[in-house]
Amino acid sequence: MQPPGRARGLPAEAYTSDRVLAWERERFWRRGWVCLGRADRLAGPGEQAGLDVAGAGVLVVRDASGQLRAFRNACRHRGHELVERGCTVRRPTVWCAYHAWVYRLDGTLRHAPRFDPPPGADLDLLPVRSAQWAGWLFADLSGDAPPLADVVGDLDAALAPYRPGELRVVATEGYDVAANWKLLVENYLECYHCPSTHPELSRVQRTEGGESFAATGGWLGGQLDLRNSAATMSLDGTGPGSVFPGLDPDAARQVRYHLLPPGLFVTATPDHLVTHRLVPVAADRTRVECEWLLPAELVAARIDPGWAVDFWHTTNRQDWAACESVQRGISGGGYRPGPLAPQEDLLHAFLGRL
Ligand code: FES
Ligand SMILES: [Fe+2]
Repeated sequence: MQPPGRARGLPAEAYTSDRVLAWERERFWRRGWVCLGRADRLAGPGEQAGLDVAGAGVLVVRDASGQLRAFRNACRHRGHELVERGCTVRRPTVWCAYHAWVYRLDGTLRHAPRFDPPPGADLDLLPVRSAQWAGWLFADLSGDAPPLADVVGDLDAALAPYRPGELRVVATEGYDVAANWKLLVENYLECYHCPSTHPELSRVQRTEGGESFAATGGWLGGQLDLRNSAATMSLDGTGPGSVFPGLDPDAARQVRYHLLPPGLFVTATPDHLVTHRLVPVAADRTRVECEWLLPAELVAARIDPGWAVDFWHTTNRQDWAACESVQRGISGGGYRPGPLAPQEDLLHAFLGRL
């Protein structure tokens, strides 16, 4: 690829073709670690969630010992989903609603009504490789991706001062965006659009002059400074939160943006984290799960997270509107890939990895 300033974006088909999306699902989404959300979302034994990894169903279960287990979300009888996608249930067993086969929480088949399965038939739920990092749960459908720690690399150290493993989700918001998942990633990786797209954000954060991180592992990211008048990312630059105690003076005045491909954004501000988890639904549709995280002490003190929620909800909607407009522009036949600006260096790095 040519350097930023000369390189061009991807052709329209990369954002509009079902064939390209099918290739990406196999290449990126089902052959590596994909974040499934916070592990503490399933709090107690017997809690079960039906999740979507780029169109593939995954069932996550917290077993009797408190351990999280992941399986393919398909009954070993005739394939009915065990927990409906997007839903959470709490039961002492995994139960298929179609013909009522019952599995233990470790995935082994316990009972098939009025039927003795053939001796020796392995009818246990198919396990999915899973791992946790910093409070997030990840799945690797292929089972042979490099260890999660290798992919995370020094993102672990970069986020350590924010103590992400100890943070609590205080708000969630889901968005259905009519744009290809890569447009959302590309948009996240540059602030070239900020002055024109985000008036509120541009009032509290500088939109240029930041630095990209020299990351090890599979992630990408960069930081931008708060404006002198702002203490945090909120509509008026103030908030009731407190600066994470572990931050050095630079980090206490910066907003740090991290992408863990293919689809987890972790945005670290001086007093809160906000994450976006992408699920590609179709070539031109992406589901986004956004979560706001605060230290447990602030949650216990019942601090209203409105300062962060209002700010990012505003920013999110501006971003999705821009991405949807790009999707429409690209889809109409009148698009020719244009040159990437110097401020789009991270976007350029992302495209170079595809
Ligand atoms: S498909 Fe699950 S019991 Fe028949
Ligand atoms: Fe944006």
